[in-house]
Amino acid sequence: YLTMDDVVLDNKRVLVRVDFNSPMDANGNIMDNRKIKSHLPTLRSLENSIVVLMSHQGRPGDKDYTTLEVHAKLATELLGREVTYEDDIFSACARNAIKSLEQGDILLLENTRFYAEENMNRAPEEQAKTQMVQKLYPLFDLFINDAFSVSHRSQCSVVGFTKVLPSVAGILMDREITGLDKGLKCHEHPAVFVLGGTKAKDIVKVISDILKRGDADKILTTGVVATVFMMAMGVDAGEVNRKFIEDHKFLDQVSIASKLLKEYPDKIIVPEDVALNNGGKREEAKVGEIKGDLPIADIGQETIADYSNVLKEARLSVFHGPAGIFELDNFRLGTEELLKAAAQSDYSIAGGGHTLAVIDQLGLESKFSHLSMGGGASITYLSGEPMPGIAALKSYASRSFKG
Ligand code: 3PG
Repeated sequence: YLTMDDVVLDNKRVLVRVDFNSPMDANGNIMDNRKIKSHLPTLRSLENSIVVLMSHQGRPGDKDYTTLEVHAKLATELLGREVTYEDDIFSACARNAIKSLEQGDILLLENTRFYAEENMNRAPEEQAKTQMVQKLYPLFDLFINDAFSVSHRSQCSVVGFTKVLPSVAGILMDREITGLDKGLKCHEHPAVFVLGGTKAKDIVKVISDILKRGDADKILTTGVVATVFMMAMGVDAGEVNRKFIEDHKFLDQVSIASKLLKEYPDKIIVPEDVALNNGGKREEAKVGEIKGDLPIADIGQETIADYSNVLKEARLSVFHGPAGIFELDNFRLGTEELLKAAAQSDYSIAGGGHTLAVIDQLGLESKFSHLSMGGGASITYLSGEPMPGIAALKSYASRSFKG
């Protein structure tokens, strides 16, 4: 792929796909500015261009599926230059606003996922024909994809423009790929993956891909992912926890997890104990003795000790997703201790917004070899699955080399 160093940027009309998708509180405030900050190097390099930014926020139906007005305000503060906000994506109004921009201006368009077709994952050829791409691309000279963390999705704003505009990787995109490649290419063993969080469906898929590729020596499961694997082992996870898995439509993952356990019995590790949330108090319980009405809120103390020992021997560690409900003081122990242990390996990678926030609180930022803004994206990349956003940039580059 090409980078920003390969093209002329001054006075060019540049469309930049960023990922400003941030945790939001109930009042619509951004709780963590890390995602926006991560794009500042790219935005600073574009100070002599005419810049339009596109981002998504949340997913349709979720509480954090909001407009990007506050994101523009925060970006203005962080960048120290005004980022104006347009409450539409490609209407005549939005296009007129884009046309009237001058050198040095930066405009942020509305949440790309407000446009229905953005939420469909389709091939770049299809995405290039959408209204979004067709209406916007004639207004630009260049497309920059700086949104590594959403480049595992084949969505319009990620892959559609690379078919119709010269396209390069932004500074953050390039840093992410370089940092993760170093981990992949070091071939250090033992390679230990700690995979948790709540996106169980995505993670079960990633576990399968990583194991097929043969890159991992151990996968330590935590969080909701661990509950899925416990159920796959036939453990009674208790009524509330079973219901949680059912309500989040993860029941089909249990049978996939069960097949994986049979295929890779020595590689996938499931907690021996958990911490239950008993009215806010931490109650340790052996797996197999989980009380029906108490939610699992962290991995237990024995598991923390065992997993930490495995991590201390690791040459390469990859940490994705919290081990428990780290927002509650009584249930952050697992996440904290495993992060401390993971940081000790020769090459350590951690990713995802929540994980990075805890790393920051623990003062461990400098101890990790690569911190990725991408949660799902970084482990998808490490699992070897093709990333449509990056493939689209490479495809543009090979077309342009051929002339
Ligand atoms: C993320 O937060 O991981 C990215 O912004 C991608 O969001 P998504 O999982 O909703 O596509």
